[in-house]
Amino acid sequence: MQKIKRLAILTSGGDAPGMNAAIRAVVRTAIDEGIYVFGVYGGFEGLIEGEVMPMSRRSVSNIIQKGGTFLKTSRSEAFQHKAGRKRGADVLKEWDINDLVVIGGDGSFHGAHALYDEHQINVVGIPGTIDNDIYGTDLTIGYDTAVHTALDSIDKIRDTAASHDRIFLVEVMGRHAGFIALEVGICGGAEEILVPESDTSLEYLGEMIKTWSKAGKTSSLMVVAEGHKLGSANEIATKLKENFNVGCHVCVLGHTQRGGSPTASDRLLASRLGYHAVHALLKGKTDIMVGWSNNHVTYTSLPESWEKKKPLDPELLKIYRILST
Ligand code: F6P
Repeated sequence: MQKIKRLAILTSGGDAPGMNAAIRAVVRTAIDEGIYVFGVYGGFEGLIEGEVMPMSRRSVSNIIQKGGTFLKTSRSEAFQHKAGRKRGADVLKEWDINDLVVIGGDGSFHGAHALYDEHQINVVGIPGTIDNDIYGTDLTIGYDTAVHTALDSIDKIRDTAASHDRIFLVEVMGRHAGFIALEVGICGGAEEILVPESDTSLEYLGEMIKTWSKAGKTSSLMVVAEGHKLGSANEIATKLKENFNVGCHVCVLGHTQRGGSPTASDRLLASRLGYHAVHALLKGKTDIMVGWSNNHVTYTSLPESWEKKKPLDPELLKIYRILST
């Protein structure tokens, strides 16, 4: 076991429901191990500015059920440069801290890896992003809540689609990955799911829309991930009108998907990973991410977590085709 006296924690990148539960787990696990814990406010940007505060068990009371991150977060431009990272490392050294837990997505893990590489700060990442696009873990913190939130909206949109015999295009988040789109599409009974991983053409969409009405469907719903090659939901609606004279209503769910109280599943994942992040550091592990796969904790090197691509489940892609017609 490694002796750790002082440890810092920060959240970085897009907020995700369950980040607070993960902070709570890290703080309380570390205190349980006799470690002094410090919260960094405002992600890597806050680190550069020296926003470091001592934390106690009571600092994380009454936050497990809250969305967002009470430590606040940022997408730091300065931290993408060596000078910014040097300043961040200096701040940690001023506080006599050599161990850091970073909760975030791949951009945040790049920053954490660089801190280890350039300044030998021991870092452990916890995957926190609604996109679920991190290799080395079945799920990321926030994904389950985002899927529930989007699904709730889709169920409501279906009522209007059915009442007015309309076609809806619903845009969900996911610039590079279609995990949210695929899961809410299947669970919401979508006729078509457009994910960034597929290259569905406009011609194909036009043909599909004709088959739906021939099959007796009076309304339909397509789920579009924001990163699809055909463009945003609004752009796709315009193209369908211009090319096939098909009128679609558009609903962009946007940042509603990032907020709200985390589901039980996200709170559980966050509690587990927070606990394991501290124990990974105590075991001398560094430059890694803790994840959860096949009901076990996993350790993935930070570069591997963004270099390898987590694929969509091919079986789910097949199932949705069969069920959607
Ligand atoms: O990475 C999470 C995410 O919500 C993506 O799905 C989305 O594309 C992006 O963040 C939006 O980022 P921002 O809130 O900074 O505009």
